[in-house]
Parts: sequence; C-alpha cells; structure tokens
Amino acid sequence: MSQLRSKHLLGIKDLNAEDIGLIFETADNFKDVINRPIKKVPSLRDITIANVFFENSTRTRLSFELAEKRLSADVINFSSSSSSVKKGETLLDTVNNILAMKVDMIVMRHASPGAPHFLSKHIDANIVNAGDGTHEHPTQALLDTYSIRESHGDVSGKKVVIVGDILHSRVALSNIFALQKLGAEVMVCGPPTLIPKFISGLGIKVSHHVKEALAWCDIANILRIQLERQQIKYFPSLREYSLYYGVDKALLDSLGKEITIMHPGPINRGVEISSDVADSEHSIILNQVENGVAIRMAILYLLAAKKA
Ligand code: CP
Repeated sequence: MSQLRSKHLLGIKDLNAEDIGLIFETADNFKDVINRPIKKVPSLRDITIANVFFENSTRTRLSFELAEKRLSADVINFSSSSSSVKKGETLLDTVNNILAMKVDMIVMRHASPGAPHFLSKHIDANIVNAGDGTHEHPTQALLDTYSIRESHGDVSGKKVVIVGDILHSRVALSNIFALQKLGAEVMVCGPPTLIPKFISGLGIKVSHHVKEALAWCDIANILRIQLERQQIKYFPSLREYSLYYGVDKALLDSLGKEITIMHPGPINRGVEISSDVADSEHSIILNQVENGVAIRMAILYLLAAKKA
C-alpha cells in the first residue's frame, strides 16, 4: 500500500495499522531529510495550506508550519483571536472564505469535538485535525507512537500507561486508539473523577494508584491537568493532585526499574511531573517534539497525494 485510505486525517479511529505503518515509513524518510544540511524538499511546491487555529497552541502550530515549509508548500496562518470570527462569522463561512483564496488543505484546531468532521462534510479540501476539544489529537498520537517505536524498536507488546487528566484529554483518546492498533497494552491512571466511565469499555486497564501503574508499565505518558476545560472542581487542589499523582524522581527510584517518560506538552513542572523527571535521561519529551515535524510532513505529503 502506498496511499492512505482517506483524504482527511480526522482521527486515529479512522486509521488501520497499515495506514499508520505507511505514515511511519514516510516519516522515516522525512526524518532523514530534516537532519540534512539542506532540510527542504519540493514535494508540496504547488500546494497551499491554511493553519486555522481556534485554540491556543505552541508545538502543534509551529510543527505544522515547519513541516509545510520543509515540504515547500505555501502557508497561511489564521488565529481566531485576531479574526472576523469575533464579529460573528460561522466556522463554515470562515473556512469557505479561506478556501476561496485557492487553498488546498486545512489544518484545524477547534475547541468543539467533531468540528473537523463537520467541515469534512461541507468542503472539498483535505482536512487535518490538529485537536478537536476533548475528542482526538491524531498527529500527537502518531508522533507519540512513532517515538515509542524509535526508542523501543516496536510498539507491539509494550505496556504504556497514560497518567493524568484523561477526562479532558484528546491526547489520551488518540493514544489509546493508536497504541491498541499497533498491539500495545494500555492502562490509564488518575483520580476517579478524571477518568471517564466509558474508558474501560475500550478494553484498557484502569488504575487509581500511580505507583502501581508505573510498576506495571514500560512507558509512562504523563498528561497535564486541563484546568481551562474544568468548570467544576474534580480534585481538592493542584497541591493534592501533585502529592498523589505527580511523577517525581523519588517515585521512579522506588520502582527498582527504568521506564521511558513521555509528555505531549505543555508541561506544568512541579504539578504532574518534576523537573528532574522531565529532564532525565529516560525522558523522550523533546524527541517527541522533533519527531512531530517528520510525522506531520508525512501526513501532509500522503494527503496531498489524495487531493480531489
Ligand atoms: N501537544 C500539544 O498539542 O501542544 P500545543 O497545545 O502547544 O500544540
């Protein structure tokens, strides 16, 4: 297989292991490219891509923009905070106006789950979901599993725990789907109030004890508490969360084994993860960021081949 099955990347749920394998093989080639003195290829020279961000982002937006520029695409950036969305324009009108300027692909982050799926029913351009509310963040899960493959040789058979605010996390859901499709065993760990009830129906393990969860796993992906999505209190205080679920060096040392530490960012140092863990030799957090560019180049390149 040398093509993805869909012209959009809306979620990991829609991919199969073959699609993910193709994305990884393509990313391997682009990782070689971005480590050369000349980091640019002409693959998307005639393609125009709009990065349409209705929510804040550092890593995802910059990583997509760099991936697009490395592929020689023309790039425009849209941020809702400085746009006519503030004057009442709808999502579909905004995107149709961007497309009228002869844009071929939309990379979109939106606070509403399903926003890119809605768009895909109304426009012809390729759509890449760069995070839709608490639903999915497919490129993050692809770069995370690619980073596991890079550090451990394979994803299949690995035990991965996702620790933290699972309830509000699009990273968690996309990672669960990707890890399962690639044959990993998955556990989530956090306070009962931050683990949605439906999650055990996905065939994964659930723990409320971080030491027990870390003792089980080969790899821990640690998530931040998404206070911006929490309208009510799910735990008494950040200090208490940190005491019971924060990952620090003393906790890791007490396990008597080494585990790989991941985090999608942004990190809240001293809350869900201590600095000595985030910056330790077992942390692959910055490798994840580096791999994000190659993974996003691969996705854009493969979707451009499916252009209508
Ligand atoms: N990991 C991630 O999505 O980070 P940003 O919100 O900075 O894009």
